[in-house]
Amino acid sequence: MHNFLSLADVTDLDALIQAGLNAKASPFADQHLGKNKTIGLLFFNSSLRTRLSTQKAAQNLGLNVMMMNVGQDSWGLEMEEGVLMNGDKAEHIREAAAVMGRYCNILGIRAFADLKDRATDYREQVMHQFARYAQVPIVNLESATRHPLQSLADCITIEEAKTVARPKVVLTWLPHFKPLPQAVANSFSEWMNARANAGHVEFVITHPEGYDLAPEFKGNARVTHNRAEAFAGADFIYGKNWSSYTHYGQVLTQDSTWAVTMDDMAETNNGKFMHCLPVRRNLKVSDAVLDSPQSLVIEQAANREWSAQAVLREILKNPR
Ligand code: CP
Repeated sequence: MHNFLSLADVTDLDALIQAGLNAKASPFADQHLGKNKTIGLLFFNSSLRTRLSTQKAAQNLGLNVMMMNVGQDSWGLEMEEGVLMNGDKAEHIREAAAVMGRYCNILGIRAFADLKDRATDYREQVMHQFARYAQVPIVNLESATRHPLQSLADCITIEEAKTVARPKVVLTWLPHFKPLPQAVANSFSEWMNARANAGHVEFVITHPEGYDLAPEFKGNARVTHNRAEAFAGADFIYGKNWSSYTHYGQVLTQDSTWAVTMDDMAETNNGKFMHCLPVRRNLKVSDAVLDSPQSLVIEQAANREWSAQAVLREILKNPR
């Protein structure tokens, strides 16, 4: 693996999930791999889990870690080519990425969608510009359309917690008053479709009308607007809000009946509740669900360390 931008960079998903489980069992087994090497973690947006878990994973592998909040700690970066730079961006990505690539052996980047223009967001310009100019491996710490480190942690969590060979996994839309990106839902769908295609899960998506994911992310998933039918017999309920893709970035409904309660969980197969966090309690999911033994959200977040470690290990083991 050179870059880790999406599932397309993964050659063997089963092996990567197993590498995460191995890292969890033996965190310091590969500490030699990162010796005298440096990873730079660049954040255009806020983070708790991604920031800390990736730093911890890198340190477990012996890497030195540098972090930067882009635009706050550094100059604002211009991403467009051939522009007259007479605005508020003081540095071009060409120089910034090239320079950071000289200081670091790997760069991790978080840059969310701004939800103004769908074509711009789905072009993934920030990730591609870094990959083009940094000349070192790039790790996606959540981009405009994907959050693959989260999805790998989700796969690890499902693998650990499943009680049947082929669990029913349901991605359900949750209500929110703010427009949020589609990245986590897109990525989860992309990765669960891969797991479903390999026979490891049954995958269902449920959401209100108008919240269809982009076709390339929906893939072969079964989609239903009948939430009760989706929840029936589910082994995992994965909750997430996302704004509309078709009416790009809009909040079309805040229907509170889509928030997950214990009554909903009672319709499942003693199912587990998952959410990438942060989560707004009682807006998207009740206290009772989050505080119940059916909630996996803390273990899921803890597994972010092992997903990051599995990916960094793969990159360090296979230098170009
Ligand atoms: N799930 C997740 O990526 O959390 P942070 O936004 O806090 O990093």
